[in-house]
Amino acid sequence: MEAVIAAPEELARLAAGAIQKLLGSRPDAVLGLATGSSPLPIYDELVRLHVEEGLSFARAKAFTLDEYVGLPSEHPQRYLNVIEREVVERLDFAPGAVRGPDGLAADLAAACAAYDDAISEAGGVDLQILGIGTDGHVGFNEPGSSLASRTRIKTLTEQTRADNARFFAGDINAVPQHCLTQGLATIMQARHIVLIATGRAKADAIHQLVEGPVSAMWPATILQHHPHVTVLIDNAAASRLQLADYFRSTYAAKPAWQGL
Ligand code: F6R
Repeated sequence: MEAVIAAPEELARLAAGAIQKLLGSRPDAVLGLATGSSPLPIYDELVRLHVEEGLSFARAKAFTLDEYVGLPSEHPQRYLNVIEREVVERLDFAPGAVRGPDGLAADLAAACAAYDDAISEAGGVDLQILGIGTDGHVGFNEPGSSLASRTRIKTLTEQTRADNARFFAGDINAVPQHCLTQGLATIMQARHIVLIATGRAKADAIHQLVEGPVSAMWPATILQHHPHVTVLIDNAAASRLQLADYFRSTYAAKPAWQGL
């Protein structure tokens, strides 16, 4: 696990640069996209690379991480609509190339199984962008999630619903209780995972992710078992790391050829 501590703009450039490099060698790569606030600067940087440097997603595919259950199809906070607005409409993905779990399916369990199958049939995710919840969730795998979980329905914690109320005019009751999320084992199959977190509110979760024991109480800690994880954090999110100085010096001495 590599932790990079840098200014937020630099973090976005690093993540977008990794995607640019991947698409340079594999134009038909499969990307994993997260919603929420954390990855937005990465998406803005991808749009800049698309507009200014011709970075193309025309042959790429993407899968989103999660979706609220039951939000009407036109709801602005439905994650498929968020990704459509923030990513798809601003880049040149082919129609239908970006998919998400169907939170309106009549048979949610079947929709989850079909989603895992679709990811496998596409060859698996090459690069997965992740955020992290203040309670240590990735995707919507809340504390107590099976570390071997596949895509399934979950109940959001009160803390996550309170955190996300800002997207629903501050009304926690408007935040759905249920979601579909890629499981931890599904996420772990991505070949490269790039997790981005900024701000003091994420400091505990980042400390647990990087330095804590692997535990379902902090679901993101399963990433310690993945061979290629990059954790991109600003000073505030890194503020509880015991190894912060080591990570800073490691990054300062990183060989230029290495990449993320
Ligand atoms: C979103 C997702 C969540 C968020 C997490 C952090 O698709 O899977 O795990 O990444 O809740 O959200 P923000 O970035 O809004 O703090």
